[in-house]
Amino acid sequence: SNGKINIAIDGPAGAGKSTVARRVAEALSYVYVDTGAMYRAATWYLMKHKISPENVREVLQHVPKMVIELKPDPSGQKVICNGVDVTVEIRSLDVTGNVSRYASIAGLREHLTSGQRRMAERKGVVMDGRDIGTTVLPDAELKVFMTASVKERALRRFKELREAADITLEQLERDIAARDKLDEEREVSPLRRSEDAIMLDTTQMGIDEVVDTIVSYCKTAIGWGD
Ligand code: CDP
Ligand code: CDP
Repeated sequence: SNGKINIAIDGPAGAGKSTVARRVAEALSYVYVDTGAMYRAATWYLMKHKISPENVREVLQHVPKMVIELKPDPSGQKVICNGVDVTVEIRSLDVTGNVSRYASIAGLREHLTSGQRRMAERKGVVMDGRDIGTTVLPDAELKVFMTASVKERALRRFKELREAADITLEQLERDIAARDKLDEEREVSPLRRSEDAIMLDTTQMGIDEVVDTIVSYCKTAIGWGD
């Protein structure tokens, strides 16, 4: 082995997964993989082709044609879908409001999951999502399940959006709660803590504190000591 491990970070929307996973990857010189961005890119593609999530047969006809790539970039990470840069579009309220409906389709999940597993084959990956510890990388050497109260998560998202969108904090909280519910209750790979995942409630924690906590778990798991 190359001495590297895989790290799985799961949890609900706004828990701080992507911010923290990116920083942990930087600290360890690992590769960050944002699986939510892949579900968002698939959603963007299917909405662009006007295919409803109810029309599973049609969704499945398009799935093999979707090529979704994550490319490292100085400004973060670029998301490319069939050659089109969709980095900005996939964060729209429209995509956010529909992604969990498409993400409940088993055949779509299988397609994205196999790509995610390939990216982690050589280890040294920090991957965040909903089902990484349970389904995508069940053998990950370190698993963290990150949570925070729904109020705190909505507030974090509100602070990001405020200027760009005309949505209230209350509406954002309802939207997040509805998406959590769909993600937790779907039949295939629901949002769930893997039994061997470390639970981390970040409601009262700052970003640096969360990053330091996870980096120290990693060092223990890799065997670097502290
Ligand atoms: O960033 P945010 O927490 O808002 O969401 P995301 O991580 O970008 O994920 C968007 C949606 O994709 C989630 O609400 C899930 O419906 C779906 N998703 C999933 O089903 N499985 C994953 N591994 C990652 C995301
Ligand atoms: O990926 P996920 O949806 O879990 O959350 P995120 O997009 O990483 O974080 C949502 C927002 O909360 C970002 O603006 C972070 O800067 C912020 N955040 C925070 O205020 N405190 C934390 N402990 C973690 C994240």
